[in-house]
Amino acid sequence: MKYQAIIFDLDGVICHTDRYHYLAWKQLADELGIYFDETINHRLRGVSRMESLEIVLERSDRTFTEEEKLLYAEKKNEVYKELLKQMSPKDLSEEVKQTLDELRAKGLKLGIGSSSKNARFILSRIGLEDYFDAVCDGNCISRSKPDPEVFVKAAAMLSTPAERCLVVEDAKAGVEAAVAGGMDCAAIGDARCCEQAAHGLTMFSDLLKVAAD
Ligand code: BG6
Ligand code: MG
Repeated sequence: MKYQAIIFDLDGVICHTDRYHYLAWKQLADELGIYFDETINHRLRGVSRMESLEIVLERSDRTFTEEEKLLYAEKKNEVYKELLKQMSPKDLSEEVKQTLDELRAKGLKLGIGSSSKNARFILSRIGLEDYFDAVCDGNCISRSKPDPEVFVKAAAMLSTPAERCLVVEDAKAGVEAAVAGGMDCAAIGDARCCEQAAHGLTMFSDLLKVAAD
């Protein structure tokens, strides 16, 4: 097999938190009188919390101090974490769980490479807290995707060279990060239009075909 390890992005790949991000950013934007919609929310995929805030604040005609920005990011996160409490193992699809189990049964190491600082909390909500061989998240890195740091560190945690790792991503920034780290990327959802992706997945279980090569 070409790949020894698979590193999964979390949000938009293993489970779907987009709606909760949207609602939490929308609440903050409304409080600040800033226009925010689903299209802007789409641009936040894969990028860090502080970079997301910068994108949200682009629509404002005033400038914000660093203290204000930290406060607003924290405020959004409190709302977001409250919303995440609605998640349960039901938010992990049967298809995703079964595919993960089959990949593991093939002897592949499985890891997470996520920009989110809430990754472990989300994994615990969906019943995967102890499932992965490595979890590299927003708390482990100082540079966000498209920088490859999160995937390079995840590969090191999995003791697997980059060329034997496959990254699964739903965001352009994530595909770019994987490629910059010397890894192949399987793109799912909107990221499928990224030319840099080595594989396109119509559905998550297509990974079984890709990983069998
Ligand atoms: C990524 C999401 O996984 O995590 C982004 O795709 C989000 O939309 C980023 O901004 C940071 O998340 P958190 O949970 O640390 O605020
Ligand atoms: Mg994602």
